[in-house]
Amino acid sequence: MGLATSIQDLPQHVGQAVELKGWLTHFRSSGKIHFIIMRDGTGEIQAVARALRGGGEGLEQECAIAVTGTVRQDVRSPSGVEIDATDVRVLAPSPDFPIQPKSHGVDFLMEHRHLWVRSTRQTAILRLRARIIRSIREFLDHHGFVVADPPILTPLAAEGTTTLFGIDYFGEPAFLSQSGQLYMEALAMALGRVYSFGPTFRAEKSKTRRHLTEFWMVEPEMAFCDFEESLHWQETLLSYVVKQVLTHHVEDLTRVERDVTALERVIPPFPRITYDAAIERLNDAGYDIAWGEDLGAPHETALAAMFDRPVFLTHFPGAIKPFYMQPDPKQPDLVLAADLLAPEGYGEIMGGSQRIHDLDLLLARLNAYNMDPKDYAWYVDLRRYGSVPHSGFGMGLERLVAWIGGLEHVRETIPFARTLNRVWP
Ligand code: 4AD
Ligand code: MG
Repeated sequence: MGLATSIQDLPQHVGQAVELKGWLTHFRSSGKIHFIIMRDGTGEIQAVARALRGGGEGLEQECAIAVTGTVRQDVRSPSGVEIDATDVRVLAPSPDFPIQPKSHGVDFLMEHRHLWVRSTRQTAILRLRARIIRSIREFLDHHGFVVADPPILTPLAAEGTTTLFGIDYFGEPAFLSQSGQLYMEALAMALGRVYSFGPTFRAEKSKTRRHLTEFWMVEPEMAFCDFEESLHWQETLLSYVVKQVLTHHVEDLTRVERDVTALERVIPPFPRITYDAAIERLNDAGYDIAWGEDLGAPHETALAAMFDRPVFLTHFPGAIKPFYMQPDPKQPDLVLAADLLAPEGYGEIMGGSQRIHDLDLLLARLNAYNMDPKDYAWYVDLRRYGSVPHSGFGMGLERLVAWIGGLEHVRETIPFARTLNRVWP
């Protein structure tokens, strides 16, 4: 017997006898020496055995095993240690595991996502995701933001009516929340600085590498906060998160083959470019986009490539943005809004704005958008009682994980991705 421990703690037990429980990733024999690579969720390790029970029968890929042995320093191993195994027991078999080390197509892997999540790469990504969530919470909690979660079942459209998932709420129409923002505005007037962190839903008909139908969003909202201050929170939050990942997850970043030089440049202040200037720069670069049009993915990619770190795209025409954004006092057809574009083609990872706090202006905007103020009565009410300038933003977790991890597609950034043609497994 040995001390029960986990793979990540092994470097503290060099020379000691330990017992590890986990799953077999790979098994191979070379003459009388047997090599077992196993994982336990905290890491991966090689165990070397000179003798095996039953000649190693049942040591199949993904069987559950218990390995007893001594921890030995080994400079060739990524973790710096190896196990000299004295005993390997099969705890549960795994006949014919469907995912083989050879490469499978994406559809096959997504169909077997419940098993695919065990792979080295996928576990590294999920650990990165967990760290990103933790760092976001650390930053916001530390700066006095109170976590306060909005409902998921809602009667309102926050981000337009085209991507709503409708449900029948005991005979009344309701929707899965696209964004908790409107509720966060109510909560900011109660608590000052608040944030929500939870799933949001959009019936996106687009099949791109950035769109999910269910994704997680963090939505901070701040009372007595103007557009300028909001940008400051956005850039300091993002750079904190990136720094935490760089500090704590070198191994995971290596496993997903992330070149971290672009991440090391994520230091505030971030550059800014107005919508007007962006259209000009894009036209100069040969893109056919007219003032007043929304940017598409290729435009975002081209624009982001003109900067060496994330860039704020600001002061959009109000007509291409939702109803609640505060007009720019200098040019009222523009709004005090910003999208943060990630480098390397990852596109918009944050969207935010100052919100309209004036009652009459809000009513006029609802009217201009053909929205019925009665549907938004409680939201309008907020402008009647101590309404103050306030701002907030939403950051999409999966796009953030994709960019930080340098991943091709958001489907790998969430345990069970929901996309246009997939709700299985
Ligand atoms: O820009 P969006 O639509 O902004 C809002 O929903 C605001 N109400 C947020 C706020 O101010 N509180 O979405 C915010 C972010 C985007 O920048 C993007 O990162 C992510 O959410 N996002 C998606 N991520 C994955 N799949 C989708 N279909 C997404 N739609 C938006
Ligand atoms: Mg947006």
